Amino acid sequence: MEPPVISVINGPNLNLLGQREPEIYGSDTLADVESRCAAAAGALGFAVACFQSNHEGAIIDEIHRLRATAAGFVVNLGAYTHTSVAIRDALATVAGPIVEVHISNVHARESFRHHSYVSDLASGVIVGCGVQGYDFAVARIAELARA
Ligand code: DQA
Repeated sequence: MEPPVISVINGPNLNLLGQREPEIYGSDTLADVESRCAAAAGALGFAVACFQSNHEGAIIDEIHRLRATAAGFVVNLGAYTHTSVAIRDALATVAGPIVEVHISNVHARESFRHHSYVSDLASGVIVGCGVQGYDFAVARIAELARA
């Protein structure tokens, strides 16, 4: 039997991880993040479907693609976290749990990063743990999916 799939969605500018403001986001690349998600999920009997886009509509399409079938969603929507009602509305349709991740501690940064359109839909929110936050998020989705 195929393992259940955890959707891992990264939003705008996260394709530049490792190059972009490394003092804030660290030196790991998006490929590093996606492989650590796959390893964390694999160890728990899950697979991942990793997706990154700089485009709001493409992110919405990916949520729609997996909304009924994913065991859960790990989402770092980048700046769309703070702006996108449309992505929020898409996430409101998903069947499985959502864990929101931010690599940086958004609450210790500019005030426009303090509000999230996603947090109240999420089972959990992980901020400021660097890319390790994705491991925690995958483990949490696995735990919730098993319950
Ligand atoms: C981020 C925080 C956002 O405010 C920012 O726009 C990002 C990355 C993070 O992972 O810390 O692009 O989501």
